[in-house]
Amino acid sequence: MRTELTIGLYGFGCVGQGLYNVLHKTRGLKEATIKKICVKHRDKPRPLPAEFFTFDREEILDDDTINLVVELIDNSDEAFAIVKEAMQRGKAVVSANKKMIAEHFDELLALQQECGVPFLYEASCCASIPIIRNLEEYYDNDLLHALEGIINGTTNYILTQMFTQNTSYRDALGSAQELGFAESNPHSDVAGYDAKYKLCILTAHAFGAFITPENVVNYGIETVSQHDFQYAREKGLRLKLVAQTRRTGDALSMWVLPQFVNAEHKLYQVLNEYNGVEVEGAFSDKQFFMGKGAGSYPTGSAVLSDISAITYNYRYEYKKIQQNNKPTFTNDVPVRIYARSTDSDELQTLHFESIDEQFSSKTHHYIIGTTTLTALRDSRIFESPSAFIALAA
Ligand code: HSE
Repeated sequence: MRTELTIGLYGFGCVGQGLYNVLHKTRGLKEATIKKICVKHRDKPRPLPAEFFTFDREEILDDDTINLVVELIDNSDEAFAIVKEAMQRGKAVVSANKKMIAEHFDELLALQQECGVPFLYEASCCASIPIIRNLEEYYDNDLLHALEGIINGTTNYILTQMFTQNTSYRDALGSAQELGFAESNPHSDVAGYDAKYKLCILTAHAFGAFITPENVVNYGIETVSQHDFQYAREKGLRLKLVAQTRRTGDALSMWVLPQFVNAEHKLYQVLNEYNGVEVEGAFSDKQFFMGKGAGSYPTGSAVLSDISAITYNYRYEYKKIQQNNKPTFTNDVPVRIYARSTDSDELQTLHFESIDEQFSSKTHHYIIGTTTLTALRDSRIFESPSAFIALAA
């Protein structure tokens, strides 16, 4: 038997409007009705009658007829306050806010247990790809070795446009913003934070260990240049921003780094705002998930899928997190990287254990060699505006 849902929605931006539209185009979800939408700006023109909207956060929380809160706002601190209060008042919650979820994961887990209400967030990771529920439900009987993927649509769109159309970084980012892919502060996308929050969430559901975002190394695409694309073209490679979690024995390592991939790599064909995630199990070997990872409708459809799941009383059980065989986290792993800089001295701060290739010209220098993730994170080049680093193919 399905539960009837009366929804209070926070936020009516790109994803909120996408949800509204997909909900009203879905014939199969008669059980869910949006009663009230809480928004911030009073003067914005909106496609729905004014009586749908409120500017008072408490109106939805105080309304006992509302049994589901859907949180789709930008600000992660405000989002957490809303989600927490909604759960404490016995309302189910659906959210797409990866930053908020990654920053408060343990607290949100405790709140679900304490309040006995479901909290679903499929739309927080990879938009249209049903990845969280798959990791949560399917892989608890196999030993997962790795999860590797493009999990940010904005950066994949920018890199694709720069590589295939010679678009400038600034123009490609501008289009990603216009198309509704980027966060309202796109620094989170281009510096790899958005992907890192998603990786922390995916890792918790895949490996049963929640690693806080501060522990995870992230490097973005802000300093990428045509030199790097030229290198990729010469070698038949493409450049992607890739998030990885790898388990070796009891040790777990995670990172978000640009990565050159060759034509045999699954991520090579993942273009524009598409995301792709490869999961590798000890016995099941590799599976690959691909779909649109950003945008109003792909994300709205994932929110709708969570709403539908709540009508069936589905909730995450966090079975792997309950188990005792937790891996330990380490950044002390070898990484084979491409490091390019206009300043050759900077490259020496990487403490390479071995060097495979070196190139020098009047305009730039690069080294391909092996160092450790810790040495990379601590090197001067990591923060340098004149350098770019990527995992080598
Ligand atoms: N800014 C995000 C991205 C939106 O580009 O992937 C979807 O989470």
